[in-house]
Amino acid sequence: MPVTSVDTIAELRQRLGANRAAGQRVGFVPTMGYLHAGHRALMERARADCDTVVASIFVNPLQFGPTEDLAAYPRDLAGDTDLAAGAGVDLLFVPSTEEMYPDGKVHTTVTVADVAEGLEGATRPTHFAGVATVVAKLFSIVGPCRAYFGEKDFQQVVVITRMVRDLSMPVEVVACPTVREPDGLAMSSRNAYLTAAERSAAPVIHQALHAGATAIQAGERDPANVAALVEGAISAEPLAVLDYVAVVDAATLRTIDPLRGPVRLLAAARFGRARLIDNLGVDAG
Ligand code: PAJ
Repeated sequence: MPVTSVDTIAELRQRLGANRAAGQRVGFVPTMGYLHAGHRALMERARADCDTVVASIFVNPLQFGPTEDLAAYPRDLAGDTDLAAGAGVDLLFVPSTEEMYPDGKVHTTVTVADVAEGLEGATRPTHFAGVATVVAKLFSIVGPCRAYFGEKDFQQVVVITRMVRDLSMPVEVVACPTVREPDGLAMSSRNAYLTAAERSAAPVIHQALHAGATAIQAGERDPANVAALVEGAISAEPLAVLDYVAVVDAATLRTIDPLRGPVRLLAAARFGRARLIDNLGVDAG
């Protein structure tokens, strides 16, 4: 089935109204495009779970900081349309910035306290308000029963889950596992920024997180020791500039000492002009 592209809110609502009236379950995958196998996995999961699958492609200016890569963010609408069609997406919503934010003005925003403040939020102070605002708006436009997010952006999943709970949004947030390249590098649209040398070096993030998780499985319960191990492994790579390593409770993203229960190891590092993030879960018993 060919995918139908829609670029206005009115047309999307009109098309989905008919599906919903027929009692169909609507699944939704929000993206910023330049789609890869990680996005495809979310779309295929939605396809398997739901009657109608909607995906969106919108490079959301609100979630980029003043010094970040908004203008340079990679785009490939033709390739994205093919990938979405192959994954079984029914409707591809590709609004313009003007359609989403008429006059460029946004007076109503959604901010999520606490879980949005550390980690990515510390480095990118306006990022999660931009994400929460656009996702709330997209939920309001699409009205999905279920929405699919990748664990690749683990803090984003925690922030969206919290927003949905706090605002009683009638949508189930489904977290899907990170899809990786054969050498362990998490797939990301931003991997396109890597030079060949940086691309060879980048799997060190996953390797370092894996070493940390292995230490926890072997009995290490001091989060500082685990973090030091991961930091040491990433810093040993000359092309990596470490941003942060965190070893936290997976639900609250707060430090727990000694480690227990579901733990998440998260890291961010720069390789040239690419800032890459990754994370791994481990049960500390
Ligand atoms: P984007 O970076 O395009 O990612 C869209 C979705 O794909 C997110 O849920 C992300 O976690 C997921 N994803 C990306 N890489 C993945 C991988 N390797 N494995 C599994 N899932 C992966 O995240 C955003 O866009 C935006 O913040 C958005 C939610 C669309 C709001 O603008």
